[in-house]
Amino acid sequence: MRYEPSSARAATRTATETAGAFETPPAAAPGDRAAFLLEFLRHPRQIGSVVPSSSFLEQRLVRATDAANARAIVELGPGTGGTTRALLRALRADAHLLAIDLSPSFCARLAARVHDPRLAIQRGSAEHIEEFLRQWRLPRADAIVSGIPFSTMPPDVADRIARAIEAALAPGGRFVAYQVRADVARYASRYLGAPIKRWEWRNVPPLQVFTWRKKV
Ligand SMILES: C[S@@+](CC[C@H](N)C(=O)[O-])C[C@H]1O[C@@H](n2cnc3c(N)ncnc32)[C@H](O)[C@@H]1O
Repeated sequence: MRYEPSSARAATRTATETAGAFETPPAAAPGDRAAFLLEFLRHPRQIGSVVPSSSFLEQRLVRATDAANARAIVELGPGTGGTTRALLRALRADAHLLAIDLSPSFCARLAARVHDPRLAIQRGSAEHIEEFLRQWRLPRADAIVSGIPFSTMPPDVADRIARAIEAALAPGGRFVAYQVRADVARYASRYLGAPIKRWEWRNVPPLQVFTWRKKV
């Protein structure tokens, strides 16, 4: 996994650069499912799923992150952006969402389809959340939501990401992870303690949703 700050920024826009063009994002964009499947076939371990999340899961994530009351949310692994759009629909007008994804094609797709001054799109690894927050001049996050597949990444990378998540959260902030497997809980609990666990059975496949609160 490489971190490429210059090309990352070339594929993205800042909140101020896009200010003014604020549309309520629709639930899904045409071709999302096909684009998702194609990227999965190219990078199965990185994408970790054949289909994007359902609207049931999206709504559960909106509630678990308390998006309506957040000032800054970080999304790890926005993919084709269904979860991103759901968060944007819930966020306040003065809030910010930093979406970080390893996939250049997902980042470019999101930048082309979602025009919202609250959204910053960053290509790169979740290992660098704090650095990205600094680059985008954003405060520590009230919530970090993640669909990145902890079960298929090298353990040292998973551990670095878990540590970065804890460091990037504001006191009292929430970390919400949705996964088929429970590996994420093993890594994040080292830094954030025990999570609350719920299942979203209406998603295909059913997923576990883990929620941690950072101590105040
Ligand atoms: C299962 S998809 C989730 C997509 C979308 N949020 C959804 O729910 O439909 C996982 C995403 O995590 C991204 N990803 C995997 N490892 C990552 C990492 N270390 N840093 C940032 N993004 C990563 C993948 O490129 C992919 O877009």
